[in-house]
Amino acid sequence: MADRDDLSNAKNFHLDMPARSEPFFLKGSQSLDWGMQNRLARIFHPASGRTVMLAIDHGYFQGPTTGLERVDLNIVPLLPFADALMLTRGILRSSIPPSAPRGTVLRASGGPSILKELSNEQIAMDLEDAIRLNAAALAVQVFIGGEFETQSIHNMTRLVDAGNRYGIPVLGVTAVGKNMTRDARYFRLACRISAELGAHFVKTYYVEEGFETVTASCPVPVIMAGGKKLPELEALTMAYNAVREGAAGVDMGRNIFQSDAPAAMIQAVRKVVHEGVKPDEAFEIYRELKSKP
Ligand code: R5P
Repeated sequence: MADRDDLSNAKNFHLDMPARSEPFFLKGSQSLDWGMQNRLARIFHPASGRTVMLAIDHGYFQGPTTGLERVDLNIVPLLPFADALMLTRGILRSSIPPSAPRGTVLRASGGPSILKELSNEQIAMDLEDAIRLNAAALAVQVFIGGEFETQSIHNMTRLVDAGNRYGIPVLGVTAVGKNMTRDARYFRLACRISAELGAHFVKTYYVEEGFETVTASCPVPVIMAGGKKLPELEALTMAYNAVREGAAGVDMGRNIFQSDAPAAMIQAVRKVVHEGVKPDEAFEIYRELKSKP
């Protein structure tokens, strides 16, 4: 039993110091509840306010993508370098060690394969399973201007309602249809609609003209999507420009796991995103790491 003598002498209430109250570091996220903020802090690094997410969810509509044939061999060694991992629950359960990722962003929409109309998605997982898997966030595709635009928005709003109930943030992923123009005007529209309707953060592609207007007009954090494989220096330059123009980090897949040296590439991306290292210098870092056995 604890010693009850001298209890009053041991107390120090620091009456001269006001209670500390730290503002949460992410744009537009100050009013979220503790659990939601805690999950976002497993995705975004509190020191830089940014994230390097590794996207490996491609199989949910296109099967075994190049570089993802064996997640256990190709992706697991990269996990120490990723702030968060974006993937399906099937790959999480089957191939990812529970001790490895800091944050997991679970793909929660799906349905059509590459053989069908991609915008015809539905919600593809239950919140209860996301909680069971300790997800840091859920990701849902939003097809603005697509054939099933309204359905995809409703998928997102239903997940946002469920996520708000349990403290799980939702990532609205801008999906661009084949015939749509990828410009700042389109991405401003898509990101703003997602944020207005409740997405806690948004993923979108980079555009060279006016990307800063996309990030400025979106009230929640915007993450840059990687897109098709580019030469490493170009991919590093795109990431550099995106964060300089207001992105809160990147969610890159093929530009990392299809690189000649994925571990070197993700480390170079980290330098750009978290330390603001210029693309040329980051490329040198990539080449140096690549040359090491
Ligand atoms: C987009 O539709 C999905 O989220 C992708 O499967 C994935 O995130 C794309 O990553 P990346 O374009 O960087 O390979």
